[in-house]
Amino acid sequence: MGRILVTGALGQIGAELVPALRERHGADNVIASGWRRREVASVTDGGPFEIVDCTLPGDIEAAVEKHGIETIYHMPAFLSVLGEAQPEAAWALNLGGYANALEAARRHGCAVFFPSSIGAFGPGTPLRHTPQDTIQRPNTIYGVSKVAGELLGDYYHARFGLDTRGLRLPGLISHVAPPGGGTTDYAVHIFYEALREGRYTCFLRPDSRLDMMYMPDAVAAIIDLMAADPAKLSHRNAFNVTAMSVTPEEIAAEIRNHIPGFAIDYEVDPLRQAIADSWPDSMDDSAARAEWGWRPRYDLATMTAEMIGTLRRKLNLA
Ligand code: SER
Repeated sequence: MGRILVTGALGQIGAELVPALRERHGADNVIASGWRRREVASVTDGGPFEIVDCTLPGDIEAAVEKHGIETIYHMPAFLSVLGEAQPEAAWALNLGGYANALEAARRHGCAVFFPSSIGAFGPGTPLRHTPQDTIQRPNTIYGVSKVAGELLGDYYHARFGLDTRGLRLPGLISHVAPPGGGTTDYAVHIFYEALREGRYTCFLRPDSRLDMMYMPDAVAAIIDLMAADPAKLSHRNAFNVTAMSVTPEEIAAEIRNHIPGFAIDYEVDPLRQAIADSWPDSMDDSAARAEWGWRPRYDLATMTAEMIGTLRRKLNLA
């Protein structure tokens, strides 16, 4: 695969994707980058790091040239809630930054990974068993930029022959780096608060059903998609992938199997609730399964057991 650049490497996904790529390809072959340097041990302690501001047209290309990059994993994004607070900045980063990555890739023949999202769907999309190919009319700037990114990736593939691939990721549950400013963040916060406080106040209704995935499955999906035989891909940008379709009350019930006194209450935030209501309950990921062998390893029970065990140690609550 040659040398790799990960942009936006200090975020929730990058903190686990970068070490996985370094283990696979060698630490020196994976250049992590962010718009500023911030210590995230799993990323900044393990190999090269560059400052790359994706919104500046020349920045990605300079890193590609300097390191002889052949594959870009383009990870920076404003998530859905933060995007609504700063729509212009969200568009500039989420779509403008990706356009800069694609141009750098076109000039240097790089393959590109793009993380799309359940946010690329909207109120007109079938909610249950959401098909791979369906109506995409999202009503958040996050969703608009993700749909535009999917289309732009397919355009660069069709027009310039670029090897662009992407996933529509669901809410991601993880314990290395926190999510920032998303609608699905509750599914991470609930574990920290369950362990620290024994209770959690959720900003979504108890029955808000959304697709979720444990981060090790998301990292495996990203790596497996980029390693897949291109001859077998009839889709590219972007594949539905999911591991579980769950509600806050279902996650709370599973946590109670480990922390019996755990209590949850609800203070619904209208913005985040409206966004959640516009996203699928459960995506159909059969295209990913058929075209490149996608299969999640974790369900609600195994993810919860591992999150609680790992966070207990991390938070020194053992
Ligand atoms: N996790 C994202 C969000 O909640 C969705 O992809 O904004």
